[in-house]
Amino acid sequence: MSHTRSPDAGASAAGTALPDGLSGLPNGLGWLVADRHLAVRLLTGDRLGVLEPGPVMADLAARLPGQARPLAQELTSFAERIMLQAGPARHAELRKAFGGFFDADAVKAVTPFMGSAAEQVVRPFAGAGGGEFMTAVAFPYAVRVGARLVGVTDDDYRRLHKLSQQVALVAYAARLKDPEEAVRAGHAALARIRETLAAARPAAPPGSVLGEWNAGAIGNLCDADIEANAVMLVQASLETVAGMLGNAAVRILGTPGALADPGRRDALLDDALREEPPLKTLERVVREPFTVDGHEFRRGQVVSVRVADANRLDDDPVAGRALFSFGWGAYRCLGARLARIQALELFGALHRAAPDAALAGEEVERVRHIRFAMPRRLRVVCPPPRTDRDGLTRALCEALDEHDADRPLTSLEREVALVVLAERGMAGPEDPRELTTIGEWVRWATSEHG
Ligand code: HEM
Repeated sequence: MSHTRSPDAGASAAGTALPDGLSGLPNGLGWLVADRHLAVRLLTGDRLGVLEPGPVMADLAARLPGQARPLAQELTSFAERIMLQAGPARHAELRKAFGGFFDADAVKAVTPFMGSAAEQVVRPFAGAGGGEFMTAVAFPYAVRVGARLVGVTDDDYRRLHKLSQQVALVAYAARLKDPEEAVRAGHAALARIRETLAAARPAAPPGSVLGEWNAGAIGNLCDADIEANAVMLVQASLETVAGMLGNAAVRILGTPGALADPGRRDALLDDALREEPPLKTLERVVREPFTVDGHEFRRGQVVSVRVADANRLDDDPVAGRALFSFGWGAYRCLGARLARIQALELFGALHRAAPDAALAGEEVERVRHIRFAMPRRLRVVCPPPRTDRDGLTRALCEALDEHDADRPLTSLEREVALVVLAERGMAGPEDPRELTTIGEWVRWATSEHG
């Protein structure tokens, strides 16, 4: 893409001072926005557009030998179908077709799955006394929920994610020594993406993207449109979600008493999203020239909005408490509602499994990444739950509708007792027949066994 070189930071083209919060990007690529007021002014309306792949890929194709050009063409056609890379009219059509996966009803329908996925991920973590939160909890949970949404296995989701990163790298191929090699690698990755999706489709559950694709229920889009956006959803739902979980965990597990309090969990999640947005910047391109406070934005210039700065409320009372962490305007994140509930389900499950979970006290290592902000390693300790005999007795009596703690339980009632223990983060006996009465279950669970 050809971008006009911006003048040095600190002065506009006309030699006047730059608007507050605006500075030049390195290498004269365009402008960096680090101010809430200016971010709202620039991102509202359609003076700025998303980075469409057409110009970059045309530039790349011009550097390729003839036989590699059809491969670049196929990659371009795939990239142009991705909603976040499409111009306004096409974008609206694609977004509308996928909107049904993210409305309130759809999120409500998937919430029980998120709850049980959260339990499955945190229970072994808690049982092991804790560990490294990002690799043991945040990423596996993001994978499980993302995979369910798309309608693929966890392994396929991970594979699709890796392959889609290889395809995305083609956008930088023109800068490489051997652009043809990068195009061939990207094209091979696209072919494997297509094979993976084709193999996964027949088994995809109803309600998932691939399941609804099978049922012909995704708007009037053609197969190529659905395919490209299914892959985009894989890309959109991994690092963002894992980052949100890691950043929120730092606050929730680092604040005494917060894990036990749903209101504080929610508020600290909000703080984390505001102050440490998982996606650090919003990238836009000037579609038509315009001026702001006498400063000219020229066609083709990149405008990069720093989300954490745009989120800051202290200096500029604009747009209420609105968050930029999920984007702004027509391209705002479709998964925002889902992602928040996903996080709340996780910390709820962690509280049940490990009510005393806390940061291990080591300094939090953070990733060094141009786009994502999250912990690299986050050690968490999960001390065994403090035993509460009376509470457990009450929970068992209620669940079994039985007030005699000495009555022998039936085999079905013992299964219920196992579930009650599991809900409190306690492991049950290997053979539930060993324990006959409610009293025995309580003694067993509150001894060192449970
Ligand atoms: C905490 C987690 C998440 C964060 C921080 C996040 C952030 C964002 C941001 C900032 C954008 C706008 C990018 C731009 O304007 O350049 C965006 C767009 C998008 N996100 Fe998310 N996202 C998250 C989770 C998800 C999830 C879980 C999904 C889906 C499964 C998702 C799907 C999308 C889609 C489809 C778009 C494009 C919308 C459009 O083009 O109209 N996101 N996201």
